[in-house]
Amino acid sequence: MIKNRKKLIVGNWKMNPAFLKEAKEIFSKIKNTVRKQSKKIETVICPPFVYLVNLQSTIKNLQLGAQDVFYESAGREDLSTYSKLPYTSQISALMLKNLGVKYVIVGHSERRVLGESNEMVAQKIRTCLKYFLIPIVCVGESNRDTSGNYLFFIKTQIEGVFKGVPKSALGKIVIAYEPIWAIGQKAKREATPTESQEMVMFIRKILSDLYDQASARQVRLLYGGSVNSKNAGDFLKNGGVDGLLVGRESLEPEKFEQIIKIADSF
Ligand code: PGA
Repeated sequence: MIKNRKKLIVGNWKMNPAFLKEAKEIFSKIKNTVRKQSKKIETVICPPFVYLVNLQSTIKNLQLGAQDVFYESAGREDLSTYSKLPYTSQISALMLKNLGVKYVIVGHSERRVLGESNEMVAQKIRTCLKYFLIPIVCVGESNRDTSGNYLFFIKTQIEGVFKGVPKSALGKIVIAYEPIWAIGQKAKREATPTESQEMVMFIRKILSDLYDQASARQVRLLYGGSVNSKNAGDFLKNGGVDGLLVGRESLEPEKFEQIIKIADSF
């Protein structure tokens, strides 16, 4: 954790809830919570695309995030030259920017299992930066082995997704370390703050080698995977991170409120 840096608490709603009315209710409860907090933390809610337009916040410390973006830029040049496919169904960075979205989750493990590669994630990061959106880049191994292969896996992921990312952009990028084995209801077990801290150090070392130490420090790092109101404080205190990426508990306003309050108490 870098001292005096604002804590970043991100809620990833995934494919929930099923009704707009419910999305509005959850969002308005979260809004009430954030309104009462200090300026020491920033909360970001990442709802499904279809709700973004209905969930607007005028509170500076409550921002909207998207759960994904298409890797090709928006732009008339595509339409006029027809040099590329017109990309039915895709959502562009420009569309998100124009809706007031500030952050975008890219490379979530639940997208990677559907075929998203490091190259695609790299292109998404570059597209986000081009449109002044802050990418929250997810990395994480599916298993931990005793021979340390998972470290090599993380290194390969980071080197792959940072291809073409200039040093000057590092302050506008967030990395979320999300060990796949610790995500969701089917998680094997919870990760420990020590495991998070070790990985934070490792990720900063990889970035230092790719860029330099001072630039590596600019990147904000989050922990994600079964974060809840009981373990949030421990991860923030001992996990070495600048914030948290919260899945399930971000859909439960009372529990998410606890997490926000804990983050604000640091
Ligand atoms: P979880 O999800 O908190 O429900 O484990 C986290 C995530 O996948 O972003």
